[in-house]
Amino acid sequence: MSGQSGLESVLDFLAVPVLRVEEGSARVLSVNAMARTLPFSLERGAVLDEAGAPLPPEQHPVRRAARGEPLEGALFRWETPEGDRTFVVHARMDRSCTPGVATVTFQDVTRWQRAEVDLRRALGARDTFLSVASHELRSPITVLQLVLERLHRGARREETFSGVQVAERLEPALRQVRRLGVLVQNLLDVSRARNNRFDLDRERFALSSLVREVCERFAEQARHAGSDLLMEDCPQVEVHWDRLRVEQALSNLITNAIKYGAGGPISVRAEWQDGEVSLQVWDRGIGVADGDHERIFNPFERAASGHRVESLGLGLYIVREIARAHGGTVGITGREGGGSCFTLRLPLEATERGE
Ligand SMILES: Nc1ncnc2c1ncn2[C@@H]1O[C@H](COP(=O)(O)OP(=O)(O)O)[C@@H](O)[C@H]1O
Ligand SMILES: [Mg+2]
Repeated sequence: MSGQSGLESVLDFLAVPVLRVEEGSARVLSVNAMARTLPFSLERGAVLDEAGAPLPPEQHPVRRAARGEPLEGALFRWETPEGDRTFVVHARMDRSCTPGVATVTFQDVTRWQRAEVDLRRALGARDTFLSVASHELRSPITVLQLVLERLHRGARREETFSGVQVAERLEPALRQVRRLGVLVQNLLDVSRARNNRFDLDRERFALSSLVREVCERFAEQARHAGSDLLMEDCPQVEVHWDRLRVEQALSNLITNAIKYGAGGPISVRAEWQDGEVSLQVWDRGIGVADGDHERIFNPFERAASGHRVESLGLGLYIVREIARAHGGTVGITGREGGGSCFTLRLPLEATERGE
């Protein structure tokens, strides 16, 4: 076996693409098997800089390698018909012959780079969540403390309060305790969903009774925000779901519609077809940008603009997990007239364990 073909067969065996190019001219002398399987050309393809702009030809890593520049794990991004691919490039010049031969290796790190971007974004979202959650936990406790201290002080001074006065003083404390309860419940649900322990307690009931009940529960809150909460059509069907969980999912969607609905009307509508119920909550508010349609269903994620302090970014994640546990889905569907329309699709008969 000659030295050259021996080297070729070793290079063909490697799991990374390798090019050997002539010094100066950058003429490709050999391409290993891995490089041949790529659906684009490493030496001719467009390489992008950090900002996504094409690099000038003389900055192309293969050209740099042919000039004898040693590349020690530099990152480059290739533009390909199937999307950008990132490679770590190493190059070394061998001048034992004339002209010399540069060996260039390309390690594909596209997957890891994407994972890193996702991880960074998830960590950022979690940090924001921690600061928002601690604020959310502290403010009800502050209110509770004030109310209790005032009552306690009054009692020590032997002041007498009428029942009405006590009730009035306790009202803000009760509101805050409820808020605290919702927050803690959400945190519990997230940890349950994470551990895949969203077990369903299924029962048979009329779909319309659930929709009506939830709409009635939120009518006052919606009015307070200037919105009319309208219950549109609801078919007479019996469903086999975890009633409390689906109520919770619908409540989360309606709460969002009130919060982000800019005081416009909110419509809740149910339909059923082919063994599947779809529950729609449509508001006429700020809407959700196309690029955020998937992301906002992830835990701690909130769309970019107009953050409110009380927003934790957990509501839609919990809706998605409840849908999944029933063998269903949730998504945003476009609707004429702006705003956002969220559709929860659930099979009439919740499956054992939806994925
Ligand atoms: N009806 C809606 N209209 C516009 N944006 C919405 C709507 N519902 C949810 N969003 C966006 O999705 C994000 C995630 O929602 P959610 O998980 O319920 O968290 P939170 O309501 O605590 O912010 C919100 O922060 C908001 O940016
Ligand atoms: Mg919400």
